[in-house]
Amino acid sequence: MKFFVDTADVDAIRELHDLGMVDGVTTNPSLILKSGRDIIEVTKEICSFVKGPVSAEVVALTADEMIAEGRKLAAIAPNIAVKVPLTWDGLKTCKVLTGEGFMVNVTLCFSANQALIAAKAGATFISPFIGRLDDINLDGLDLIGDIRTIYDNYDFQTQILAASIRSANHVKDCAMIGADVVTAPPNVIKALASHVLTDKGLEQFMKDWAKTGQKIL
Ligand code: E4P
Repeated sequence: MKFFVDTADVDAIRELHDLGMVDGVTTNPSLILKSGRDIIEVTKEICSFVKGPVSAEVVALTADEMIAEGRKLAAIAPNIAVKVPLTWDGLKTCKVLTGEGFMVNVTLCFSANQALIAAKAGATFISPFIGRLDDINLDGLDLIGDIRTIYDNYDFQTQILAASIRSANHVKDCAMIGADVVTAPPNVIKALASHVLTDKGLEQFMKDWAKTGQKIL
């Protein structure tokens, strides 16, 4: 499974990238706001060291304007995936931009039918939002499973990019279901390494080692 980092925080991306944890990056208008940076400038900086897909989201609402914005974003670097919302205009934009050879990430997906129609429009990635479904007492992971089944039934090549990941368990469950990619905030990726028994075991080893009076270096 590929790991994308869901942030526009360059330092956080770099830290995970240096550990080989970054197969790509996703951003959105809220994450650009949080970064306090200019979208073009920060996306260019991310693409200077991340070689996998870097999603940059359009903000227009009509297909013509989305296509123009998408072309401008795609010109930042060859590994840009233009992110478009799952609206009819977004799907038109997806069809045009994939036809021009660009990667397109169709975002804000909340149903299996939306994922089906995005695949029909040629999406490179579909982004179902797990956490936001959980927030309204629906099951985001069921959606990932449904999309996996549909895409496998018909051999759609669109990659399932599980988004709105809120916990380490979400990552594990997506891996079990067979999502192609998860995009998670840096703190969730770091949380994958944590276990209370690891901490407890290490504490005991340190106490016992001190009692030996030995040194390795
Ligand atoms: C995905 O591409 C989105 O940027 C993101 O995962 C949304 O996550 P949120 O629901 O935690 O804002």
